[in-house]
Amino acid sequence: MDYILYEVNGAVGTITINREKALNALNSQVLEELNATLDAVDLNTVRCLILTGAGEKSFVAGADIGEMSTLTKAEGEAFGKKGNDVFRKLETFPIPVIAAVNGFALGGGCEISMSCDIRICSDNAVFGQPEVGLGITPGFGGTQRLARLVGAGMAKQMIYTARNIKAQEAYRIGLVNQVISAEVNEAGEVTVSAKDALMAAANKMAAGIAMQAPIAVRNSKKAINDGLQVDMDQAIVIEEKLFGDCFETEDQKAGMGNFLEKDKEKKLKVVPFKNC
Ligand code: CAA
Repeated sequence: MDYILYEVNGAVGTITINREKALNALNSQVLEELNATLDAVDLNTVRCLILTGAGEKSFVAGADIGEMSTLTKAEGEAFGKKGNDVFRKLETFPIPVIAAVNGFALGGGCEISMSCDIRICSDNAVFGQPEVGLGITPGFGGTQRLARLVGAGMAKQMIYTARNIKAQEAYRIGLVNQVISAEVNEAGEVTVSAKDALMAAANKMAAGIAMQAPIAVRNSKKAINDGLQVDMDQAIVIEEKLFGDCFETEDQKAGMGNFLEKDKEKKLKVVPFKNC
């Protein structure tokens, strides 16, 4: 792979979009490699993914403007589908995905972060959907996911004005869960860079997710995602089915057994997904 790095540490997999010279902009090759990387994740051992961008400056600065500049209408639509298919795979991936947003998350960068379950960012992060300034609409799900995440009014303002927002503003409107700063000592010297602090926080959160019962985590993700697409009467039926599906699993028996035995020291025995 030229543009994607994939590394597994215990039960946490980290995907890094590695096209730093172009601020990790998404061209067709990046999208294809990301798709192949997701297909290759070993779901029997990996329980949570982190998605980030190479370097300190940019998470993803959008879809590749050079590649898009000469597209016909039909090619533009096909490029949108290419991005949407990969982003949808990410969004519906069986295990949680945390976006660790280390800088610019513009256009397709903001959009790919919104396809992840959880977004945390460094304090130099910048979010935005600048597409209308380029003469196009957001094309990798931005018109849909931004409105769902921050409400239609705020999404319309961001998209129509093409105005970028900084990390704290993204936090205020609920686009990110947490903003991480560099660590400094008493002399004001940086001891841990914002990127390293961000990755430490992402890894801590991912490890916390990875130690929970895998079927319960997967079913929670599916219940939230699928339930948001339908009305409440249908949504609670989705929950009931996924809730019921957890019973008789080894984790459910062990998890509840530990509680009833009042054995707080006993860890939940999390078994490989295929054996659950
Ligand atoms: N596509 C292609 N190349 C990009 C890029 C993009 N989206 N963003 C940055 N780059 C490239 C630049 O062309 C430049 O390459 P060269 O060194 O070869 O000239 C390199 O990355 C560094 O960029 P800058 O010199 O511009 O860096 P800067 O610090 O001055 O500015 C920036 C940073 C504000 C992020 C600026 O690069 C920028 O505005 N980028 C474009 C952001 C954007 O409009 N994104 C939306 C794209 S459209 C989209 O995503 C559609 C969709 O919904 C699917």
